Amino acid sequence: MSLTITPLHDTFVAAIEGTDLSSGVDDATMDEIRQAFHDNSIIVFHGQDLSNDQHVAFSRHFGELQGHTVSHWLLPSHPEILVLSNRGRGGVKPLDNGGAYWHSDITYEEVPPLGSILYALTVPPEGGNTMFADMYAAYEALDDETKEQVDGLIGIHTYKQRYLKMAEGGKRPKLSDEKMAEWTDVEHSVVLTHPETGRKALFVNEGFTVGIKGMEQAEADALLEKLFAHSTQDRFVYSHPWKAGDIVMWDNRCTMHCATPYDVEKYERTMHRTTIRGTKPV
Ligand SMILES: [Fe+2]
Repeated sequence: MSLTITPLHDTFVAAIEGTDLSSGVDDATMDEIRQAFHDNSIIVFHGQDLSNDQHVAFSRHFGELQGHTVSHWLLPSHPEILVLSNRGRGGVKPLDNGGAYWHSDITYEEVPPLGSILYALTVPPEGGNTMFADMYAAYEALDDETKEQVDGLIGIHTYKQRYLKMAEGGKRPKLSDEKMAEWTDVEHSVVLTHPETGRKALFVNEGFTVGIKGMEQAEADALLEKLFAHSTQDRFVYSHPWKAGDIVMWDNRCTMHCATPYDVEKYERTMHRTTIRGTKPV
């Protein structure tokens, strides 16, 4: 089968047409999809209709899947699937505009994910886009002096500050001290080399990067703020307008994302996410 790959942005993101993921994907098609993923960092499929089993099966083509540190957000019948919904009963991660800050997922762990595959089941007719930033392009556009400054630096990442901020705002339940103690600081290179493409990407994010190893906090804050502002300029950003049946797969090593608001009282928004295990960034 030959796929049609259409760019959706100048530097990254492409739509892949010509495949029905529910009927399974043969090896040759998977090779094309994987290549498109590496070339574009984010791939988009429209009009898909997948069961939970099919979503998991497609995701497994990219590697081993992982759950989430907060296990009650996982689908009981399919613990590989994280449910994000604003019509949450127990066991659903509240989609309350909680992800409305720029981040790569789970960089507060030693081995952050390779990427995620987000499948839209129910979406509002307006609002609720997801924005993505190209962290290869952001790195490449830095001036030489800044590149020299950040190459070799080590960033400090944690979930604690972000979670506490959301818990204080009533957006997340308070967790036990034992659970909080599991979230220790981890260190990642500020500039990583992508293990598949060999390209360099900036790997700091507003969500979870809270310092730079060996740097005074005020100086680190100033540098991080400068890098966040740089990376999220319009020219590096694609905003995805969701339709039910859309699948968006992002490479978590070279992109960031940020939720945008919608009317949570008026509209339901329900997504399923699988997450593929990565390797330690270097
Ligand atoms: Fe996220």
